[in-house]
Amino acid sequence: MKLQDKVAVVTGAASGMGKAIAETYAREGAKVIVADLNLEGAEAVVKEITDNGGIAKAVQVNVAKQEDIDNMIDTAVNEYGTLDILVNNAGIMDGFEPVGDILDERWDLIFDINTKGVMRAMRKAIPIFLEKGKGNIINTASTGGLNGAHAGATYGASKHAVIGLTKNTGYMYAQKGIRCNAIAPGAVATNISASMKNINAFGMERTKVVQGVIPRVGQPEEIAQVALFLASDESSFVNGTVITADGGWTAAF
Ligand SMILES: NC(=O)c1ccc[n+]([C@@H]2O[C@H](COP(=O)([O-])OP(=O)(O)OC[C@H]3O[C@@H](n4cnc5c(N)ncnc54)[C@H](O)[C@@H]3O)[C@@H](O)[C@H]2O)c1
Repeated sequence: MKLQDKVAVVTGAASGMGKAIAETYAREGAKVIVADLNLEGAEAVVKEITDNGGIAKAVQVNVAKQEDIDNMIDTAVNEYGTLDILVNNAGIMDGFEPVGDILDERWDLIFDINTKGVMRAMRKAIPIFLEKGKGNIINTASTGGLNGAHAGATYGASKHAVIGLTKNTGYMYAQKGIRCNAIAPGAVATNISASMKNINAFGMERTKVVQGVIPRVGQPEEIAQVALFLASDESSFVNGTVITADGGWTAAF
């Protein structure tokens, strides 16, 4: 088992990629905090994990709230004694709106969840990792964090920021035993479309061209395998970078 006795926190773990990551980590021997806004969903994932002989606990978290983030990390430490792996995966989409149509409230919400939530969880985990001289952070960015037209301006900007945060963190703590990497998934079959609000017809039309060259839609488990590689010692020399997993989509650009 690749993660025997490691303690992992996975956000957005009630659904999609986070769920697949939590299940994969548990199968590989990790004790997993299944953190999500959707507590019922998180509890269902925990049941699946424990029914299969794994160890996990559900925690309700709104990653836009510092007190929830603190409680999430504290729960890992109180329950399982430490923290080894932090996966910042929770995220929401915008409505494909170009900059001319951005609403401040929507921009702020998306940044609070997709970007500031990542920063806050990393900030909370770093002292634990520094004390141990070891730690591993994996952020779910997006190919939209590397390219200009995979969603609207807000989503793209929020994910570009996650990649900047990832690179800076990877570099800053590189000699402290801490690694920080991002995954840039392409199109993956999850429930993310439920978070799309007020679809912008113009923005959607403009991104259609780009979506037209998606070779295929991936499965959450395919992303979980990348997250497993990044969490395990097999990736010991991989730090401060982004692994794109998009079935070849962005190779077209
Ligand atoms: N699906 C894709 O095609 C795709 C592509 C690239 C990147 N991503 C990114 O992957 C990550 C996972 O998304 P997914 O596709 O699995 O979607 P999903 O909607 O299936 O899962 C996201 C989970 O995050 C949770 N969540 C939403 N807001 C939250 C908050 N404020 N606090 C805590 N939890 C919250 C949701 O309840 C949900 O369980 C996101 O960061 C998303 O931006 C998705």
